[in-house]
Amino acid sequence: MATDVALDTEALDRLVDLIRVGGTDLAEATLIIPTEHFTSPERLTREIALLRSRPLVVGHLSDVPEPSSFFTRTVLGIPLLVVRQKDGSVAAFRNMCRHRGGRVEQAESGRKGLFMCQYHGWSYAAEGGALKAVPYEETAGGIDRGCNGLIRFPCAVRHGLVFVTLTEDAPIDLPGFIGAGIDTQIAPWNLDSATVLMEHWIPLEVNWKLVMDGSIDSLHAQFLHPKPGGVGSRTVNHSAVFREFGAHGKMFMARAKLKRMLDAGEEIDATSRYVGTVMSLYPNNVLVEAPDHIELWSVWPDIADPGRCTVRIRFMVRPEIMSPEMAERITKSWDILRQAGMEEDFPMEAWIQENAAAWPGGTFRYGSNEKSAQHLHRQLHRDIDGGIVGEGTISFVAQDLHQSIKQA
Ligand code: FES
Ligand SMILES: [Fe+2]
Repeated sequence: MATDVALDTEALDRLVDLIRVGGTDLAEATLIIPTEHFTSPERLTREIALLRSRPLVVGHLSDVPEPSSFFTRTVLGIPLLVVRQKDGSVAAFRNMCRHRGGRVEQAESGRKGLFMCQYHGWSYAAEGGALKAVPYEETAGGIDRGCNGLIRFPCAVRHGLVFVTLTEDAPIDLPGFIGAGIDTQIAPWNLDSATVLMEHWIPLEVNWKLVMDGSIDSLHAQFLHPKPGGVGSRTVNHSAVFREFGAHGKMFMARAKLKRMLDAGEEIDATSRYVGTVMSLYPNNVLVEAPDHIELWSVWPDIADPGRCTVRIRFMVRPEIMSPEMAERITKSWDILRQAGMEEDFPMEAWIQENAAAWPGGTFRYGSNEKSAQHLHRQLHRDIDGGIVGEGTISFVAQDLHQSIKQA
């Protein structure tokens, strides 16, 4: 997908400099996080409230390819019905009948002009969600149809990604939320015309933030994924450039080939062939840039249990570069990811979860060299704790960074 996209040359230059000295981009202090952040139901409640107030990626335009195409999904505990409209826009409704709360659509996806609640037959238009029919209306007692259409959530599409804010009547400002920096970085991937080649839903006994941490971590591959041909042998550990884009961020990591070329004194051109990038789209998405496709990870907390989440991984490919060889390559990518994730990352994250639960009052450290994970936790801290550092929130350990850079 990204093979023909020139890489941010500034990031590549910085990455090359870092590889030469064996260093990585640094945060200004070590971040200390209480284990309760991964285990506390009260913390989870505040996180869920935060997530429901932000635009969340719930799907892709290819999920609703034509007018009246729909999908249903429960997102953070709220049943949704997402429907393509005649003008090409996408509408998101509560999948909830205005009579007594039945689901108006039971199928996971399909195409319909009218959604009928199967409890007593109230029916709603796919276009706009208006209440269209009420059986026995004359004896039901004065129903104002104009006020009893499906309840809408703010919904907008950018780069083919369908965003919904799970707060009724909240304004949705996607350009403002995504920001020009990230928007410019996503645009060359042409996600609006992409197809979803592969999709996996993975339930885990892990706090959602630990999965986010693992997906944006540049220190672990060498140790956790040491198998020949695996992730550890394909990337350079502890050499990452991290760019902040407001609440979002993007990490640039070198593939092993870049280091080999540098060691051999070869010329490096500014393409993504030697660099992998991981973009975090706050709060719960990660976009991994592979040479021929984009992986979108969305990590969904369980709303009742801080120790559980579900990861949705989708591989997106531009149809014009699809071929049997491409499908084979992407299947191979999935095999590598599955092996690393299922056998190595997710079990480690589950052990961390177990230890967090077994150590109330304890703390975990995010070093200066873990800038990407720090960025997520610092932003959550600003949004949830209002930036107040101390008991029950987070704290910092300052250090002589000049010294650590010299050591690197
Ligand atoms: S609950 Fe839907 S028609 Fe009664
Ligand atoms: Fe990993």
